[in-house]
Amino acid sequence: MKKILLFLAVVLISCGQEKKTEKKKATYGQISIATSQKDESTSSSSQVDLTNYGIGPVKDLVFSDIDDKMVQLGKQLYDQKCTACHKFDKRYIGPALNGLYDRRSPSWVMNIMLNPIEMVKKDPVAMQLLEEYNNVIMYNQNLTYDEARAIAEYLR
Ligand code: HEC
Repeated sequence: MKKILLFLAVVLISCGQEKKTEKKKATYGQISIATSQKDESTSSSSQVDLTNYGIGPVKDLVFSDIDDKMVQLGKQLYDQKCTACHKFDKRYIGPALNGLYDRRSPSWVMNIMLNPIEMVKKDPVAMQLLEEYNNVIMYNQNLTYDEARAIAEYLR
């Protein structure tokens, strides 16, 4: 008798869990339908949002004159860490990076390098990019601020 009761309890618990996950899935489905309808007209990679600073450690980076030393270091780092997924002139695994600062603020660019995982979860532009680029997440390469800053300079 004890065994049967235990069995029943297990069945009841697992049924309850199943219902919960089903409910979650349904809501998730609705959300993604809603966002994909919204984006039909605009492609997010070309969408311009220069007032968005993104989410992460960098809040208000303003560029001044181009710093050649930083550009050189940035090019080295970019060639090592970014060319697997990015080209300048065309879409690859990630977006083409030509004209980047015509559509993104410098701080946003820093934050997508330093904090990519949180960005694709919470930043509206990065979330759309994630969808557009087949859910490939730009993984966190543990760049230091100075390394990211040098790459950001090179990308100008
Ligand atoms: C594993 C492949 C991969 C690597 C490596 C990678 N990226 Fe990305 N990147 C992506 C993808 C995919 C996206 C689109 C957003 C997303 O899904 O995370 C993206 C988005 C971006 C964006 C936003 C572009 C836009 O149009 O707004 C920038 C800037 C960027 N990456 C810079 C870099 C830099 C700099 C590096 C090297 C430090 C790098 N990425 C390394 C895949 C990658």
